[in-house]
Amino acid sequence: MNRLRHLAVIMDGNGRWAEQRGLPRWKGHEMGMQAVRRLIEAACRRDIPVLTVFAFSSENWKRPQKEVRMLFTLFHRYLVSERQNLLDNGIRISAVGRRDRIPGIVREVLAATESATEKCSRLHFRIALDYGARHEIVETARSLARAVLERRIEIDQITEDLFSRTISSDEVPDPDFIIRTAGERRLSNFLLWQAAYAELCFLPKLWPDFDESDLENILDDYYSRTRKFGALAAPAPQYGNS
Ligand code: FPP
Repeated sequence: MNRLRHLAVIMDGNGRWAEQRGLPRWKGHEMGMQAVRRLIEAACRRDIPVLTVFAFSSENWKRPQKEVRMLFTLFHRYLVSERQNLLDNGIRISAVGRRDRIPGIVREVLAATESATEKCSRLHFRIALDYGARHEIVETARSLARAVLERRIEIDQITEDLFSRTISSDEVPDPDFIIRTAGERRLSNFLLWQAAYAELCFLPKLWPDFDESDLENILDDYYSRTRKFGALAAPAPQYGNS
């Protein structure tokens, strides 16, 4: 059976969920946050070691200021209200993405929650915040180029393995399974390097409606797949008689 060491989620459809009900968009994000809580609980029950959610992309700054402010208020509220619960349940939290552009108050509570939960080992919950995969790849290339210029490494030492270790400072495995809700079928600049061999799953459901039964179904789907990583699933056929 396939191992699932890292599940990654593109949580899409909060706005549509709210619009369909005649509610303001922030209500969709608030309900999306409840869905994140349900997902974390379900991931713990299913012994998934690493979970990454795409909470705010580097392109999301283009949204109306009011919505951006509301989203960061929600992230802040989540981090403050959940810290004890995360600790009690052995959940480590960390963020991936740029830190320099997010509001200082969120940066501070994030850093405090990261260090408070650093030793927790039941689930590593990662929030992609002000995250863009292309930016991450360019930063990694820059850091390796600097290492060459400063003669800390030789150019031939830049391999896929070194690139992977440099891009993910927290040593998490690449995502095995990436799911996206709300019917769109693209990765939208999410974990592009790490997704090279990930299985993908696109669900029509809007993110605020996602629940444990959806997780059960997509996990059944994942475990039923054959992952070949470019090789052959069954032993290679023998040619000739020898
Ligand atoms: C995409 O839906 C969703 C977002 C940009 C924000 C996701 C944020 C949350 C679920 C809030 C809580 C998160 C954490 C980690 C505490 P959309 O607004 O693009 O939906 P639409 O395509 O229907 O407009």
